Parts: sequence; structure tokens; C-alpha cells
Amino acid sequence: MVSSISRSMSLIAFLQAQNCSNYVGSWRHPRSMSDFLTPDYFQRIARTLEAARFDMAFFDDRLAMPEIYGRSPDLAVCNGIRSVKMDPTVVLMAMAMATTHLGLGATYSTTYYEPFHVARLFATLDQMSRGRVAWNIVTSLNDSEAANFGRATHLGHDERYDRADEFLEIVTQMWTAWEHDALIMDKSTGRFADPAKVHRTDYSGEFFTVDGTFTVPQSPQGHPVLLQAGSSGRGMSFAGRWADVVFTAFKNKDLGAAQYRKIKQAVADAGRDPGQVSVTPAVGVIVAETPEQVAEKERVLRGLATQADGLALLCETLNVDFGDRPVDQPFTDDELAKMSWQGLRDRVLTASGTPNPSVADFVRYSGRGTLDEGGMFIGTPEQVADQMEEWFDTCCDGFVLAAGEVPGSYEDFARLVVPVLQRRGLVKRDYAGATLRENLGLSIPTRRTSESATGRPAQVSA
Ligand SMILES: Cc1cc2nc3c(=O)[nH]c(=O)nc-3n(C[C@H](O)[C@H](O)[C@H](O)COP(=O)(O)O)c2cc1C
Repeated sequence: MVSSISRSMSLIAFLQAQNCSNYVGSWRHPRSMSDFLTPDYFQRIARTLEAARFDMAFFDDRLAMPEIYGRSPDLAVCNGIRSVKMDPTVVLMAMAMATTHLGLGATYSTTYYEPFHVARLFATLDQMSRGRVAWNIVTSLNDSEAANFGRATHLGHDERYDRADEFLEIVTQMWTAWEHDALIMDKSTGRFADPAKVHRTDYSGEFFTVDGTFTVPQSPQGHPVLLQAGSSGRGMSFAGRWADVVFTAFKNKDLGAAQYRKIKQAVADAGRDPGQVSVTPAVGVIVAETPEQVAEKERVLRGLATQADGLALLCETLNVDFGDRPVDQPFTDDELAKMSWQGLRDRVLTASGTPNPSVADFVRYSGRGTLDEGGMFIGTPEQVADQMEEWFDTCCDGFVLAAGEVPGSYEDFARLVVPVLQRRGLVKRDYAGATLRENLGLSIPTRRTSESATGRPAQVSA
């Protein structure tokens, strides 16, 4: 059974600042808009999502082209396999300017950026959006990303999370360095702010040493909401420690219920309240008024994927080149141990039932590059709402909605499914407040100090 934080279903749109949606074939869809290099494209999506009372639009990111497969970018460039990747924070700001309540999240890497940079960037975004921003914390996945940043190889799996823990210790200290009432701005006395309420960040660890005073006052929601998607053991303990919202992926609600329990347990193990952390799986939706229209939509969408999409995306996430390998040759234990996205690898191990899957097994059982990577809800509006309600009752607190085509998938969902969910009382008819934390029912974080650097900051009610 799921927890009862607030039984309003969180709706999060899974966006990409790129030429296709999460589903690479999407750009070939006859209805897909091609003006993805303009603010108009993203602002149109933002307005649709806000009108449908989505909690948040969130941008994924990768810091390189998918060029591990065959050690060449040619396939990605030629087929449009996520070959364009713009900076998601800049695109996010364009959407913030077109909305007033929609939460806006962007992915940024703790492996390739520095704490001060990320802290200041997201604190500024949070101010400029009046407290509506979230950060999706990732540790990045592959050697192409390392190469773009002038590093020889990508850091090891657990080491990346160790660095990320220190990164978060520093960033959360910086974000809470200015107490909420530090600003005075009294023109008659000439006092701008109270030095007793602006604290130094002082941190010394294995990866970082920082000693300085942060330069952005606290935002209306305290600091940005934290999103995370680690699914390995180490990844889940990291998410349990830091995340407000956990992204995940599973294909059915039985697998989901087990995953849900594990994530909530990881939160409890970190000494936090599992009721304050939402678990949201990525799902796709194909919806239309009649079963015939649904079948036709599904046929067109499925026809957009090519096998190359899956191969390129598997290689970039696992950080392994499948290019010169016989497709039926099983991976050895040693090779499996080196794969970058361990949660994805483990899903393939479970689904294939073999401890040593081959390239063919990875293509078949991961669903990568196809519509079947996570859950799929297909049907008329009532049928889709039924499936969402079942999952909501058993294995999640909301959904990260992936699009088969953009912006059509979001517009269909907003027009056809959201009214049904609202009638059932599952999705809110209006935003609860102005900030993202208010809308997610999250409390405002208190000031974090070095002395309390062994755990997550205590929480106070908003
Ligand atoms: C819904 C979802 C979205 C994700 N988005 C990103 C992303 O934008 N960038 C990225 O580098 N990793 C992304 N990931 C991957 C995770 O951040 C993480 O690297 C992955 O789950 C591997 O962690 P693990 O080894 O702990 O399983 C995403 C995962 C999920 C389930």
C-alpha cells in the first residue's frame, strides 16, 4: 500500500531540451513540432501543462551526444538520436516567463559541475521563478561526458555517489546561508542586511574544500526541490538521504510495489520521513476518444522507432560499446559489473531471467528506444485513468509523463485524461500555493550548518 502524504496525484512532465522526446522516434511523427530551437515551442508546452495543473515540467540531460555505439557520433547525428542537447536551465527560464505556478525542474550533474556554480545557478532560477524550481541531481553516466569536460574517464559508480553526497552537503549549506529574514534594506539607516544572519559555508571533505560566503539570499521556498533517480543500492541510499521526489521506472505494478517499498525504506534508513518523499515512475500514455483511434495512434507511434535508437541509447547509458560484439554473446560477470547504469542492467537481468544477458537480451528486455521502457497506459480516457488510479493505489505517488510526440502527447493528456482524474478527485483543480514546495506539500528546509553535516537538514513546517 502507498503512503498517504496527500493523496493528490503528482503530475510531472518528462521534457527534453532537444530535438526529440524521451522517445527518439518522436521527431519523425507527422504532428511533432519542429521549432524546438525556439522559446515558443517550450512556452506552448508550459502553458498546456499549467492549464492542466501539472505540478512540474522537468528536463532530463546528458552532457554528450550518444556516441559510444561504434565510437562515432554519425548514427546519432544522422538519425536524430538525441543529437541536440541544449542547456536545460536556460530553457527552463523561458518556460518560467510564460507561467506563474508550474514547477520547473532541470537536470545538472554533480560529477562535472562544481557546487558553487550549481548552488548559485539554481538559487538564481528559484528567485527568478518566485520559488518554483527543482534540481534533478544526477551523477552522469559515460566516458563521452567525461571527454567533453576534458577528463580521461568517467568516475566509478560508487565514487560518483560519494562525490555527490559531499556536493549536496555544500550546496544545501549555501542555499540556507542567508536566513530568511537576513535582508533589512532600510534606506534610512543604510543597513542592507544583517551580518549575523548571513553565514559562511565551511566544508572540508575528500572531494571538496570550500570556505566562502554564498551570494544569493534564500528563495521563497527555502531552496529548490531535490529530485533524484538512483536505482542501484548505492543510488537508492543517496536518494533516500537527499531527494524530495524520486524518479523511477518499472513496467508493471507488481515490480513497482517492490520498488516503492525499497525507496521508502531507503528514506526511513536515512532518518527521514518517508511520507515527505514522493515516488514517481516514468510512464507513457496513448489516449484517444475511441478504441479505433487509440489503435491507430499506437500503430503510428510504434512505427517511428528504429533498432538503432535502442542500440545507441543502451550504449550511452551503460557506457559500453555494443558495436563490435556478436549480438548473442553473453556478457561476463566482469563486464556486467562495469556497466554504468546499474538499475537498468539489473532490470534486464530480472526480466531476461539470465545472469549473463547478451546484446540481444539488452535490446529486447530493456525496451530502450521504444515506447516500452517504463509503464505504458493505453486506451480511452477512462481506461487510462483506471490504470493510473490502480498504480497510484499500489505503487506510486504520481507520475513522470513521457511523450510519444511533442507537444501532442501532452495536449491529448491534458484535454482527455486530466478532466477524468479531476472528476475522480485524484488531480487538483487548482494549485495549493505559489511555490513548488507548497504545491507538492513539502516543508521548507531549515538552515544547514557544518556541525550538522552528517545528515539531512531538519525540516520545519511551511
Ligand atoms: C525517470 C528517470 C530520469 C532520468 N534522467 C536522467 C538524466 O536526465 N540524466 C542522467 O544522467 N541520468 C538520468 N537518469 C539516470 C539516473 O540519474 C541514474 O544515473 C541511473 O538511475 C543510474 O543510477 P544507478 O546506477 O544508481 O541505478 C534518469 C533515470 C530515471 C529513472
